[in-house]
Amino acid sequence: MNAPLKKLHIKTYGCQMNVYDSERMIDILRPLGYEVSDVADGADLVLLNTCHIREKAAEKVYSEIGRLKELRGEKEARGEGRMTIAVAGCVAQAEGIEIMHRAPAVDLVIGPQAYHQLPELIARTHRAKGERLAADFAPEAKFDALTSDRTVTGPTAFLTVQEGCDKFCTFCVVPYTRGAEWSRPVAAILDEAQALAAKGVRELTLLGQNVNAFNGVGSDGQPSTLAKLMYALADIPGIDRLRYTTSHPNDMGDDLIAAHRDLGAAMPYLHLPVQSGSDKILRAMNRKHGRQAYFDLVARIKAARPDLALSGDFIVGFPGETDKDFEDTLDLVRQVGYASAFTFKYSPRPGTPAASMPNQVPEAVMDERLQTLNALIIEQQQAFKATLVGKTLDILFEKPGRRDNQAIGRSPYLQSVYVEDARHLIGQIVPVRIVAVGNNSLQGALLETVSA
Ligand code: 5AD
Ligand code: SF4
Repeated sequence: MNAPLKKLHIKTYGCQMNVYDSERMIDILRPLGYEVSDVADGADLVLLNTCHIREKAAEKVYSEIGRLKELRGEKEARGEGRMTIAVAGCVAQAEGIEIMHRAPAVDLVIGPQAYHQLPELIARTHRAKGERLAADFAPEAKFDALTSDRTVTGPTAFLTVQEGCDKFCTFCVVPYTRGAEWSRPVAAILDEAQALAAKGVRELTLLGQNVNAFNGVGSDGQPSTLAKLMYALADIPGIDRLRYTTSHPNDMGDDLIAAHRDLGAAMPYLHLPVQSGSDKILRAMNRKHGRQAYFDLVARIKAARPDLALSGDFIVGFPGETDKDFEDTLDLVRQVGYASAFTFKYSPRPGTPAASMPNQVPEAVMDERLQTLNALIIEQQQAFKATLVGKTLDILFEKPGRRDNQAIGRSPYLQSVYVEDARHLIGQIVPVRIVAVGNNSLQGALLETVSA
């Protein structure tokens, strides 16, 4: 007889790399008899896959642990056995020992490079308390321990190709939490992609903290580039769309720009964070390029692929940011024009150089700047979507919508597109006419429906 299934609840915070890691942790735990539960209540194992990028993201974890402690008590009172609480991800990496002190309810802390050891560590926490910490910086061992056989939930998938960062932007914890830049070998990536394609995946989003610094070793023993990798991936039957994130402007090589022109699978949408439009702030951030270099780069990319749309990340209120510096950011945003962007208030992170810089910007000033910037970004986002109305775009249908027979797909520019009578098309790429703009989405119609 099979052992009864154990319930696993994973809560994922932060970036897409954590989403990928959570999927892989589920794959690792499934053979041990864990099935995924959407709720923490009643779960045998709760895994918090955490983010350390901003203070708020890290604090959320501690309030969640408090809530879990109560659920654990209720579960035990019902006689359903113990709930194991594990903290994974970047908070685990950065604050491992501290978590143990601050939140004694936590059984296991596991860094982002160590989760292949989960089965063994969980078994250990069940056997005895005390040995509760695992954190190392060896992505190679982790990836070697993972199989390429993944559970697939639809026609799109994330695929981590690179981890870590050597850039040391002065505000950022990533070089400390995720370690040095490291790329997976090309063959391992192709294996994983082939397995995904065999299960119906049509679109891959290649992930890395510095994905365009990818230099994984190729079949010839030489370092590949991201562009080369993309050509190889596009050769896999079934893989029709490729995206990648996050890119650093300084790593946008000529061959990558050319791939946007020549490789049909390269989607015309690029996340290219600049963080600030002020040369003074860019220098203080150690971004290693100025605003003109960013303008020039965008011009080169758009020359290669005129319909390419950009998204970005912006930080307001970096130490020393004056009204003039912030104006420079607004000006950059106006000149570049973004299809979407993420905006953040600067959050001092312990151990990073910017945290101890003078002239920290008051919260109220940051709030005001964030509002101003958000208003501009939303205006640009809506304006960009409006340009798509009346156009026919290839939509990859991903999942059913709420309405009868409705399906939700993705445009080449990553917007969700709602289409009626399209449920039978899930998993396929189909031309769709865009008929209206929603707040966070587009509405489309199948071509036959339009002409009917
Ligand atoms: N404060 C605010 N935003 C930050 N980011 C990274 N570190 C910080 C910080 N300390 C933002 C950057 C980055 C994105 C992932 O998060 O914009 O591109
Ligand atoms: Fe952080 Fe800068 Fe590296 Fe991006 S490039 S992960 S912002 S240090």
